[in-house]
Amino acid sequence: MATFTVLKRCFSTSTSRKVIQNVTVIGGGLMGSGIAQVAAQSGNNVTLVEVNPDILKKADAVIKTNLGRVAKKLYKEDARAIEKFVDETKARIVGSTDLSEAVRDSDLVVEAIVENLDVKHKLFGALDKAAPPKTLFASNTSSLSIGDIASVTDRKDRFGGLHFFNPVPVMKLLEVVRIPEQSEQTYQAFMAWGKAIGKTCITCKDTPGFVVNRLLVPYLAEAIRMMERGDASPRDIDIAMKLGAGYPMGPIELADYVGHDTTLSIIEGWHKKFPDKQLFVPCESLKEKVREGKLGVKTGEGYYKYNK
Ligand code: 3HC
Repeated sequence: MATFTVLKRCFSTSTSRKVIQNVTVIGGGLMGSGIAQVAAQSGNNVTLVEVNPDILKKADAVIKTNLGRVAKKLYKEDARAIEKFVDETKARIVGSTDLSEAVRDSDLVVEAIVENLDVKHKLFGALDKAAPPKTLFASNTSSLSIGDIASVTDRKDRFGGLHFFNPVPVMKLLEVVRIPEQSEQTYQAFMAWGKAIGKTCITCKDTPGFVVNRLLVPYLAEAIRMMERGDASPRDIDIAMKLGAGYPMGPIELADYVGHDTTLSIIEGWHKKFPDKQLFVPCESLKEKVREGKLGVKTGEGYYKYNK
């Protein structure tokens, strides 16, 4: 079975290469594998880091499937061109379980691991020691403060948020999040890299939810509350927003798609910070879904059931 090449790439020493060419993505879940994929698609050398080879194997399969979807769009029925695109892109991604080795010549590290500040602190503390001074650090967090995450490092000038959207290969937006200590050079490098990987970048302060989630998550929560009150069925709420507001997915199916663990961690974080804001009170059924492990599409059941 084809899996990632085990880490051992001859790192380029050319001085003429782009500012960001070697990218390390930490976390091979939904977001991390998507970020690795889009970076490799645009020619970056990517190292995808996970805690064990089994998760890397799963990420490898997901990336292969999604690269096939992208290739089909690009090359229609040309089977040879599709295969070439998939193979060449995959060859630029190596998997690793060795953090120090994975950042040895990295220009950019993008972290996409569990939304837990202590875990992220441990990771970035270790990365700060292992990575060379040139390496820029970014977090794809959707619920934590970039400044809080960066606080354990000695490179806040080379730190920021790079917030992607699911599905990463399809969604065109990248939120580039600034912290006060971030240098102009770092910001420009983030913006240039975002453009190079085919995203449209917007800039945002390090504020809860940045732009999209600050608007989207309360909307999802309101839709769930509407469903909890029995004002309308989940199906009808979804149809209403698709046909009445032109959204590609209704809010209940989108909540299932994003994952209830993610949405709950965002809303609980905000509730802790702003306990008086009714909009940020976690919904009961959302908590229940997470307790039951019914996290949405990725587990086969959320508010709806899915064929795995
Ligand atoms: N990789 C590559 N291509 C993919 C893909 C993936 N993971 N998922 C879908 N596609 C492609 C399909 O191949 C298809 O291509 P085609 O048009 O050439 O056939 C195209 O996208 C459309 O896919 P489908 O036909 O399967 O289904 P839809 O037309 O329903 O589109 C969708 C799926 C793109 C997910 C669309 O429903 C959508 O845009 N939904 C909204 C998603 C959204 O809002 N995301 C943001 C969530 S918030 C977030 O991520 C932030 C976080 O912090 C919480």
